[in-house]
Amino acid sequence: MTSSEPLVLGIETSCDETGVGIVRGHTLLADAVASSVEEHARFGGVVPEVASRAHLEAMVPTIQRACETAGIAPRDVDAIAVTAGPGLAGALLVGVAAAKALAIGLDKPLYGVNHLAAHVAVDQLQHGALPEPCLAMLVSGGHSSLLKVGDVTGDIEPMGATIDDAAGEAFDKVARLLGLGFPGGPVIDRTATSGSSVAIDFPRGLSSRRDLERHRFDFSFSGLKTAVARWVEARERSGEPVPVADVAASFQEAVCDVLVRKALDAASSLDIEDIVIGGGVAANSRLRVLAEERGAKLGIRIRVPRPGLCTDNGAMVAALGAEMVARGRTPSALDLPADSSQPVTHVLA
Ligand code: KG4
Ligand code: ZN
Repeated sequence: MTSSEPLVLGIETSCDETGVGIVRGHTLLADAVASSVEEHARFGGVVPEVASRAHLEAMVPTIQRACETAGIAPRDVDAIAVTAGPGLAGALLVGVAAAKALAIGLDKPLYGVNHLAAHVAVDQLQHGALPEPCLAMLVSGGHSSLLKVGDVTGDIEPMGATIDDAAGEAFDKVARLLGLGFPGGPVIDRTATSGSSVAIDFPRGLSSRRDLERHRFDFSFSGLKTAVARWVEARERSGEPVPVADVAASFQEAVCDVLVRKALDAASSLDIEDIVIGGGVAANSRLRVLAEERGAKLGIRIRVPRPGLCTDNGAMVAALGAEMVARGRTPSALDLPADSSQPVTHVLA
C-alpha cells in the first residue's frame, strides 16, 4: 500500500444493508455493515419503507465504526463514493443524501456509482487489478446478468440477463415454499449439503436448442421455481414426507448448472479467459466449486471474492470509487439523483 493511492469512503444503501467501506487503492481498510434483514424476515422479503428507516438509524454509527476500524478521520479521505442506483428508491436516497452531506461538509469530490459495477470492482480488493477485458456474472436478489467488462469505471456491455426472476429471488422463493425462511440463499446452501443434487431432475431454463437461438446468454428461473412448487405439492398430496434436503440440493444444482454453463459459453465466445462472479448468490458454495471445476477444464480462470464481499457492502462502493479516482474520472455533480433503475452501462452518475 502506498499513500499515493486514493483513500475512499464508500456508502451502500440500495437494499437492506447499510454498508460503509474504506479502501486505499486495492487495499481494504474497513467494511462496516449493519443489516435490517431480520426486520424483513417475517414478511418474506425486503419491505422498502422499513429498509429506508433502518438506513437512517444505522448511517452515522456505521460511518463512525468504519472510520474507527480504518484508523482514519473522515477529513482524511480523498473522495466519497455512494451507490446511486439501481436499488430501492427510498433506500438509495438515504445513502445519497448522507454522501452529499459528507462531500459538502468535508469539501471532497463525490462519485455516485452503479451498484452492479461495484459488485464487480470489489474483487480487486481480494485478487488485485481486474483483467481487461473480463466477463462478469452478477447474480443477486435483484439481478442476474452476464457482462463484458472492458473497464469497470466506464466500459460495461450487457450480454444477457434474466428474463424473469433473478437467481437470488429464485433461492428466496424456493426457500419460502420449503418453509426454510428468509433470505433463502444461505439456508438452501446449508440444507443442500445433506441432500442429493441428482435426486430430482429439475428443468434448466433457456437451455433447449430453440431457446439458445434467441436467448443464448439469458437466464430464466421462474419455470424452475414453478417446477419445484409442483413437485413439492404432488409429494404432499401423496402423503409422503418432502425430502427437503434433496429438493434444496437438486434445485441449487439446476440454478448453478445453468449459471456456470452460460457464463463459460459467454467467455469462450469472446475469447475471454477470466470470469469474475459477484453478487449475493456468488456466496453459494456449489456455484463456486462448479465454476472452478468446469472453468479449469476450459482454461478459464474464475475469480470470486470471499462471501462477505459478495453480499451487499460498502467496500465494493469504495473500491469502485477508488478506481474512478485512480483513472481520473470526473466526479459527479452534487445534485446527483438516486436512480432506482440505473442501467449497468451507466457506471458513474
Ligand atoms: O447482492 P445481494 O446481497 O443483494 C442484492 O443486491 O440483491 O444479494 C442477495 C441475494 C439474496 O437473494 C440471497 O438469498 C442470495 O443473495 N444469497 C445466496 C447465498 N447468500 C446470499 N444465494 C445462494 N447461496 C448463498 N450462499
Ligand atoms: Zn447487490
